Order: sequence, then structure tokens, then C-alpha cells
Amino acid sequence: MPRSRIVILTGAGISAESGVATFRDPDGVWAKFNLEDVATPEGFARDPAKVQDFYNMRRRQMDSVEPNVAHAALARLEREVRGDILLVTQNIDDLHERAGSRNLIHMHGELGRALCQDCGASSVWAADIAVQSGCPACGAKGRLRPDVVWFGEMPYRMEEIGEALTRCDLFVAIGTSGSVYPAAGFVEEARAAGALTIELNLKCAGWASRFDDQMEGPATQVVPAFVERILSATG
Ligand code: APR
Repeated sequence: MPRSRIVILTGAGISAESGVATFRDPDGVWAKFNLEDVATPEGFARDPAKVQDFYNMRRRQMDSVEPNVAHAALARLEREVRGDILLVTQNIDDLHERAGSRNLIHMHGELGRALCQDCGASSVWAADIAVQSGCPACGAKGRLRPDVVWFGEMPYRMEEIGEALTRCDLFVAIGTSGSVYPAAGFVEEARAAGALTIELNLKCAGWASRFDDQMEGPATQVVPAFVERILSATG
């Protein structure tokens, strides 16, 4: 049995059952907050305290949520699959790591890191970021921002992701609406490389037709079942 090369893209839907709100569902984050204000460089320039409050609130929430069985199933797949697996997440929470995933790229950054606009250092940061917080690397005060990729900014490690997509034979998108590029274009890159493409989502709609196959249902149900299928197929 040839070694499989798998790329998995996850979105907010995989963390929904852990109590982390998605963005575009009716009770989602963008129904309560204006993304222009809290998720753009312009919004940060206009009102840094408002942006820091938004991400401080979300960072604190990480103390009261746990990875769910969907996160755990992907960590198991990484441990047991005969092949290479790259997990690319759009999520800024740390639930994949806490579930044991290792070969993981946070393409939109991480709540648990702070970025210095002076020296460019990205530092582990667990507490609130205050407007006057100092950079652990260069000491500059008032120059820290959440290490999160905002709209209009280039996501992280795109070259590595692109390389993996051109080599993969299976691409799986889990719990993402496919509303935001460049992540929403990965399915085409994988298809162009001849990969089988599968979507897992509570409701396979919108971009579902761009996939070869779909599995519909809550992530905590469909992801463990899907992982079982892959492991039994790859022997
Ligand atoms: N199980 C599986 N899928 C779910 C579940 C669940 N329990 N609950 C919701 N979903 C699905 C929804 O059907 C939707 O397709 O998760 C998806 C969430 O979509 P979005 O809220 O648009 O989140 P996402 O696709 O991750 O957003 C992409 O947009 O706001 C920016 O930077 C932010 O990384 C984010 C990016």
C-alpha cells in the first residue's frame, strides 16, 4: 500500500463543539463584532485598546475550553497513518496542539502569541496584552499586537502549504465555510495535483460542489468516523 500524502484544512467548525464560536453562523463572532474594527490593521491603528480587548477576551476563553473528539481523532490519524499528513488550521485557538497534533501550521496566527511591530519577534503570550505591554525580545513598550493574521494581510507559511498541496493525494476540509482566501482556494490547488478532495461539515453547502465527496454532520461525529475509514483504508 503506497504511503498517502494528506493535507487537512480545518476551520472554526471543528472547535464549535468545544464552545468556541464560529465566525459566520447566525450566533457567530461577526454577528456580534464588526470585523473592520477588530480584524484589520486599519481597525488596530484606529483603536488598539478595542482590538486588544477583543483578543484578550478570546485568549482568556481558552482557559475554559477543551479539545473535543474531532481534534483528538486528527491527532490519532497523525500518529497512526501510513503516510505524511500536514494539518493546516485557520483557527487561532490551541485546541489542535492540546489534542496532540504536531505537524501543524497556524496559517492565521495564534491567540497564544504576541507580535512586536518594532523588532518583528513573535513571543509566547498567555496573559492579556495591554496597550503598554513590553516586547519580551526587544523591550519596546506599546508595540505589541496579537500575533493574528488580519484581513488584507498575508497568511503564514504559504510556501510550505503550497508545496504540500502540489504533492498531496488527499485533501480534506473540515468545518470551514470556504469564505476566505487563500484557504478557500486550496481545494483547487489539490485537485490540480490530482488529489481526491473531501469536505466534512455540519452542513455541506456553498463550496461543497468543488469537492469530490462530502460527509455531513457535527465534527465530533464525522471526523472520528472519517479517521477510522482512512486508517482502515491505508492499512
Ligand atoms: N461541526 C462541523 N462543522 C461545523 C460545526 C460543527 N459542529 N458548526 C459549524 N460548522 C461549520 C459551518 O457550517 C461553517 O461552514 O463550520 C463553518 C464555519 O465557517 P466560518 O464561521 O466562516 O469559519 P471559517 O471558515 O473557519 O472562517 C475562515 O474567516 O473570519 C475569518 O480569520 C477568520 O479563520 C477565519 C476565516
